[in-house]
Amino acid sequence: MANHTLSYKRAKEEKDWEMMLSIEKMFANSKTYFAFTKLEDIKAFLGKEISYLVFLNNEPVGEAAYELKDDGKKAYISTLVVVPEYQGKGIATKIFNKIIKEIIDKPAVENVELITHPKNNAALVIYLKNGFEIVEWQDNPFGDGEPRLKLRKIISR
Ligand SMILES: CC(C)(COP(=O)(O)OP(=O)(O)OC[C@H]1O[C@@H](n2cnc3c(N)ncnc32)[C@H](O)[C@@H]1OP(=O)(O)O)[C@@H](O)C(=O)NCCC(=O)NCCS
Repeated sequence: MANHTLSYKRAKEEKDWEMMLSIEKMFANSKTYFAFTKLEDIKAFLGKEISYLVFLNNEPVGEAAYELKDDGKKAYISTLVVVPEYQGKGIATKIFNKIIKEIIDKPAVENVELITHPKNNAALVIYLKNGFEIVEWQDNPFGDGEPRLKLRKIISR
């Protein structure tokens, strides 16, 4: 994996949302990830965010998205996904590093938040290694009967 370069496409067009939906559907039965199942939901939620499709050798291998809130003072990372056959190769780590750098490069951002399942070990490894701290337990925030953890990273400048 080390020598492969990922490329990023900002999702904007209908075919981008359709590709994202096909990635999301791979996680339809996941207990630790609440996947989108409808095109109109992806467009409504991720269409207002900064959303990327991620490619490796022209193959779609993942997606990521974040939004800026409070006049750009807060960032919320809503999406980090790697398709199953490409997992365990460090791809999510690379995607997350790119997203975090992009966020930190915005001078107004004071903190970054995200939400993940307490049993999502791979995601938690990435977030904790990047200096995020667990700040809140949430019982059932997405209505899927599963708990979540809120994590936050304070940006020190
Ligand atoms: C979470 C996810 C993005 C991780 O993708 P990935 O490309 O496999 O992640 P990486 O290969 O970069 O691995 C990240 C770290 O987790 C570790 N890891 C991977 N699977 C693990 C597991 N089951 N248990 C513990 N650690 C694990 C890796 O060893 C790596 O740690 P390291 O940097 O110390 O080597 C991927 O599993 C996924 O898309 N899941 C479904 C969607 C999802 O849950 N997204 C997160 C929502 S908040």
